[in-house]
Amino acid sequence: MCQYAIDLEDIFYSYEGQPVLKKLSLKIRQGEHAGILGDSGCGKSTLLKILAGLYEPDNGKVMVAGMDAPKRIREQVAIVMQQNSLFPMSIRDNISCGHDISEKRLWEACESARIAQWVDSLPDGLDTCVGERGNQVSGGQAQRIQIARAICKDAPVILLDEPVSALDRDTGRLVLCALQKLTAGKTVIHVTHHPETLGGTYVLYRMEGGRVTHA
Ligand SMILES: Nc1ncnc2c1ncn2[C@@H]1O[C@H](COP(=O)(O)OP(=O)(O)OP(=O)(O)O)[C@@H](O)[C@H]1O
Ligand SMILES: [Mg+2]
Repeated sequence: MCQYAIDLEDIFYSYEGQPVLKKLSLKIRQGEHAGILGDSGCGKSTLLKILAGLYEPDNGKVMVAGMDAPKRIREQVAIVMQQNSLFPMSIRDNISCGHDISEKRLWEACESARIAQWVDSLPDGLDTCVGERGNQVSGGQAQRIQIARAICKDAPVILLDEPVSALDRDTGRLVLCALQKLTAGKTVIHVTHHPETLGGTYVLYRMEGGRVTHA
């Protein structure tokens, strides 16, 4: 196993010729909890999608949990996206993602993500369909379904893109507590505009000008 759980070197990424990541390098140790701050539009979500193996950089080296091929990287990473990333399927399928997960574990994940009560109240429970791109659930419910998915995946690297941004303050607090359980012992990158919610274990980084530096 390599020394760093995340090792990015000289990453460039553009959308239709508009550069967003410009020679970005970042090294995160195994088990480190990293908080990423930065202005809206600076490229934080783009960076996470590269780290998740969803986007390939135009140039540069990506190594995540010892893997460099996007398909392998995707197996090592659980991501809670900022925008709704649900499939037009049941809540159960959205959490298990085709893996054989026991009913008990599914409900434990729902409990930790604070959706158990809501799911239980639905006539079809876990088999309720979330609609096209999750349009039949609220933004906050969609975020928590993604958190339950991440809990079940039990990946060594956890990527969180403002995971409580769509939640009211009290629910946000509860979900942040649940996330502590998900992230314990894992390598974590947590993008947030509210570093005060992260807690003392986080090393803070700032994204600016297409690069990441220590905050
Ligand atoms: N699919 C896309 N096509 C074209 N441009 C895009 C696309 N996605 C993002 N961008 C642009 O790339 C830049 C970085 O976007 P990104 O979503 O990574 O920012 P961010 O730091 O996550 O912002 P926020 O804090 O608002 O979530 C922005 O200027 C955005 O408009
Ligand atoms: Mg973003």
